[in-house]
Amino acid sequence: AEFDLTIRGGTIATAADVTRCDIGIRDGRIVALAEALPPGMRDIDATGRLVLPGGVDGHCHFAQPAGDGSRMADDFLTGTRSAAFGGNTTVIPFAAQAKGQSLRDAVAAYHAEADGRAHIDYAFHLIIADPTPDVLERELPELIAEGYTSFKIYMTYEGMKLNDRQILDVFTAARAHGAMVMVHAENSDCIAWLTERLEAEGKTAPFFHGVSRPQVVEREATHRVISLAELADLPILIVHVSGREATEQIRWAQGKGLRLYAETCPQYLFLSADDLAAPGFEGAKCVCSPPPRDKANQQYIWDGLANGAFQVFSSDHAPFRYEDPQGKKLGGESAPFRTVPNGVPGVETRLPLLFSGGVGEGRIELTRFVELTSTNPARMYGLYPRKGTIAVGSDADLAIWDTEREVTITNDLLHHDVDYTPYEGQVVRGWPITVISRGTVVCDDGALHVAPGQGQFLPCDRPDPARPSSRRAIPRDSGRFKAEAV
Ligand code: URP
Ligand code: ZN
Ligand code: ZN
Ligand code: ZN
Repeated sequence: AEFDLTIRGGTIATAADVTRCDIGIRDGRIVALAEALPPGMRDIDATGRLVLPGGVDGHCHFAQPAGDGSRMADDFLTGTRSAAFGGNTTVIPFAAQAKGQSLRDAVAAYHAEADGRAHIDYAFHLIIADPTPDVLERELPELIAEGYTSFKIYMTYEGMKLNDRQILDVFTAARAHGAMVMVHAENSDCIAWLTERLEAEGKTAPFFHGVSRPQVVEREATHRVISLAELADLPILIVHVSGREATEQIRWAQGKGLRLYAETCPQYLFLSADDLAAPGFEGAKCVCSPPPRDKANQQYIWDGLANGAFQVFSSDHAPFRYEDPQGKKLGGESAPFRTVPNGVPGVETRLPLLFSGGVGEGRIELTRFVELTSTNPARMYGLYPRKGTIAVGSDADLAIWDTEREVTITNDLLHHDVDYTPYEGQVVRGWPITVISRGTVVCDDGALHVAPGQGQFLPCDRPDPARPSSRRAIPRDSGRFKAEAV
């Protein structure tokens, strides 16, 4: 046969359009898109089904130590398994540098965790916590050239946060070598000040986590880092935007013509401060940063997904168990919110939640759904068009959806190693049934069909969207974009 596999009769959606055709796959790649293709060695009937490019989750955390004694429940084995069952074929977790550690050692440690254990393909973002001259001038350029072309920096969290001067230095290095910088924007001093005052008043329940990080601290840091990026003439991507105030800053910057990208996540659409106020310690399940806001802000985030303020929709999967002294109960049964590990699980529920609430409810188009969840993350992080679309030459990474299947989300249904989902009881319509990675069926109908190690490491190209604007003539460093200086 001409093809190893054909997918027949499905409705194919990309970021560009929705069509009806067959997909011919050979050697792990898409080699034909046409009506009535001849049979392959194997055929999958997708009649009545939707065929999407596999999801690219551009923000998730697996096996990432935080230095506080907490432990993530998902490693690369369970994290990628859960991701696959949720319709994803690529994940981009983090290789986090500890203070004093070389970037090279950080990358090696995460490869040791991931290699041979992943069920779907993976790339790495670096986390730069210690931007020494050696890191910025030697290690980073080498690693970028090897395919680690994006990294995250933090404006808060002890042990991770950078000051404005350090951020400018990181931006300068990113600009010189063509990398995409993701920023966690919250004002660290404001959070520490508010936290101390709340604790002095005995306000330590999980609910007050949200009170300690009001929108103004996110808005201020968002505005400040936009200013730093403007100064350095570097496009950046602001991650996990939670509500109206930060989004307004992003809108303002985009309106000025700055290349400014933004990500949001399911927790800002489907969770709210009410969930942090759950009885007892249960609110800890929804402690993440920035925190979920109120209903009016959820609507504002929906609007931002529809109107283009956001380019990327990721899970920010941060898997801590609830009943676990190394998880949400790190500080004990009723610990102050300050000690609760931050983050919510969601690598498997990201796509069904957005599909159901977004496409199903008519808030976003199907093409926009694909763009936000697959195509744009692939573009932003240098994986496009190998990943993120259905096109001749692209990897045969596909998710076949039953758009009519109604599912009540329960933790039993999910394939992560966390003991809860914040979306317990939520009803969605539409679920990925079959997931194919490089032409191999990873899972279908609830069964896993590959062994760990099916997933491969993906070196990333320098992302096109990270190219600085050439409108402004400023002194350039050496590097890839030197020739384009005006
Ligand atoms: O609360 C969160 N989001 N934890 C995960 C780490 C991060 O800041 O993305
Ligand atoms: Zn963050
Ligand atoms: Zn995160
Ligand atoms: Zn099967």
